[in-house]
Amino acid sequence: MYKMDRLDMFFKPRSIAIIGASSEEKKLGYAVLKNVIDGGYKGNIYPINPKADYILGYKCYKSVLDIPDDLDLVVFVIPSKFVNPVMRECAQKGVKGAIVITAGFKETGLEGAKLERELKEIVKSNNIRLVGPNVLGLIDTHNSINASFASFMPKKGNIGFISQSGAFATAIMDWAAANDIGFSKFISIGNKADVNEIDLLEVLKDDNDTDVILMYLESIDNGRAFMDIAYKTSKVKPIIVLKSGTTAAGAKAATSHTGSLAGSDQAYTSAFKQCGVIRASTVEDLFDLAIGFAYQPLLNGNNIAIITNAGGPGIMASDAIENFGLRLATLSNDTVEELRKNLPSAAAVYNPVDVLGDALADRYEFALSKVLRDENVDGAMVILTPQVYTQVNETAESIVKAKDPKKPIFSIFMGGKTISAATKYLMENSVPNYSFPERAGFVFKSMHDRRIWLNKPEPVYRKFDTKFELAEKSLRSEDRSRRPSLGDWEVREVFEGYGFTLPKTLLATTSLEASDFAEELGFPVVMKIASPDILHKTDVGGVKVGLRNKDEVIRAFDDIMISVRRYFPDAEIWGVSVQQMLPPGKDVIIGSVKDPQFGHMIMFGLGGIYVEVLKDVSFRIVPVSESDAMNMIREIKSFKLLSGARGEKGVDQNAIVDAILRVSNLVTDFPEIVELDINPLRVFEEGAVAIDMRLTVGGGTE
Ligand SMILES: Nc1ncnc2c1ncn2[C@@H]1O[C@H](COP(=O)(O)OP(=O)(O)O)[C@@H](O)[C@H]1O
Ligand SMILES: [Mg+2]
Repeated sequence: MYKMDRLDMFFKPRSIAIIGASSEEKKLGYAVLKNVIDGGYKGNIYPINPKADYILGYKCYKSVLDIPDDLDLVVFVIPSKFVNPVMRECAQKGVKGAIVITAGFKETGLEGAKLERELKEIVKSNNIRLVGPNVLGLIDTHNSINASFASFMPKKGNIGFISQSGAFATAIMDWAAANDIGFSKFISIGNKADVNEIDLLEVLKDDNDTDVILMYLESIDNGRAFMDIAYKTSKVKPIIVLKSGTTAAGAKAATSHTGSLAGSDQAYTSAFKQCGVIRASTVEDLFDLAIGFAYQPLLNGNNIAIITNAGGPGIMASDAIENFGLRLATLSNDTVEELRKNLPSAAAVYNPVDVLGDALADRYEFALSKVLRDENVDGAMVILTPQVYTQVNETAESIVKAKDPKKPIFSIFMGGKTISAATKYLMENSVPNYSFPERAGFVFKSMHDRRIWLNKPEPVYRKFDTKFELAEKSLRSEDRSRRPSLGDWEVREVFEGYGFTLPKTLLATTSLEASDFAEELGFPVVMKIASPDILHKTDVGGVKVGLRNKDEVIRAFDDIMISVRRYFPDAEIWGVSVQQMLPPGKDVIIGSVKDPQFGHMIMFGLGGIYVEVLKDVSFRIVPVSESDAMNMIREIKSFKLLSGARGEKGVDQNAIVDAILRVSNLVTDFPEIVELDINPLRVFEEGAVAIDMRLTVGGGTE
């Protein structure tokens, strides 16, 4: 029996109807029908148009209900106001999939949004899968399906493409055609009323015709589900995403350091990193990465060899390799000897190998094949500048001949007119040609990152014994709807309950009480204003450190009160907390904010006054794994300050990892936490203490 797999109704339909098919060449209804026919579709094709008998030689029907056959797929090219009634007929007919090319839905405003809601309702209640509305259509070159109004069918290839914008999709297709690049499947998802990037990732993951997945996205609706499927997919084949636009910032009016540092795009950057998605920042990146990954094997190490017929570009290439964190391969003695014996004496036989300006194709071929056979080489860049004797086309042929199934080669034929036939030939034969060494370096670097990703073990998440009920009492009390932000004095229990070490602290309401407490704790002490209305205590003269005796404590109490009163005459004040003074260490910040698409993110950075100036911070989406927590620490530029520099000992990085993972647990347990800062967490050679914490809840418990 015929069995439909997931979205097979779109890729293996037994019959297709085009609703709104037309014989007028200028109409979309004509273009789509013609594409379906010219695409070589083997099943039955049914144009639907009440006013025609035959279109392009196919018998026309007034309604889908008149078709004498089962109908798997329908393509809509009728005005938006007719779509829903006809979709109901399709439901009656038992249609399995629909592509609504028609625009005029959610993207046009309230009326359109209403239509789209109705459309969604109809397809959902009738088990029809829907691509669109507002799309270019869908193409499957391996199954000979072109259900789109694209102006031509792309070449067969191994790249799958998902685009949220139809217009961008046409641009990509045009670029691909100009560069001899082929696609497996090409789907424009438009308004994503039903089928979205997540469904299609699932399909492309298991699609044998697709080796590389490209996506152009403007939004991701369900961040967690996306991460889940992207993670699984990226372990099988590369996903390269160009994401445009930005989300609304996680916390709109950020009151925390973390909130103000989490730019609107941060969640996407972190999410992509955590699920192995390769992010292209520009269209150029997208193209360059696409051909690199689609045409060449993955890099196995980071040692790159350069072969060039000009010194300057060789140096540029060496710089690029270094700048992207790769290494200039050290050629083995054997290779060097072979090159020395066979190349002219003026040639450079160490990497970069300079075959000289008069090199003909055979010299390139010799050098390239020798270098590729060297164990110390993981990949090669072949640079050619078209000089007087240069055999541009023959050299391209030599490179293709030297191709290695295990080591990637990129060519950099520099120039324009003289090299165009050669670069076309290279591309046709799966050797990506880049205009400049930097581009090749960039792609090598992405390949190297992917190799690291593939070798990365499965994430390990740590679970702690925590005092959930205690935290719940505070975070879910009636008070929180009235006063959602909690300062350090109030959240001590929550953090202690989640396993943080805090400095001993006592709350004094008079200066005498403060001095007694100070004695009890032992000098020196720190004193801080305790008020529900004051969140940044230092700013209002509410913190005094290094108080060495009773007199200083008594004076500090009064000073703090006077200063705070001046700033906030109406503030409710509980008193002044007297706290153990901690020895010096390294102060770091750990925070969390909630992103609307991806949920909580955790931030890490050096604490203190520099954090917002330097913005030297790292982010991850929750839950954070052990290795991600470690990487968060290593990723910041000032990591050396933590690992030990200039004779200083390093601090306890495991204690930071532990703190990050505990915050990850806390915000997972309490989704209503919208912002949280530990600033600072003071880290010592051994252990860490949370000095100052604050958090804000909101939005209910979900
Ligand atoms: N117990 C303490 N031991 C040592 N230094 C402290 C202590 N408490 C605060 N500090 C120092 O004072 C700074 C400000 O205190 P903090 O409690 O973070 O107040 P706020 O951030 O509200 O101004 C801290 O960043 C830290 O450098
Ligand atoms: Mg602070």
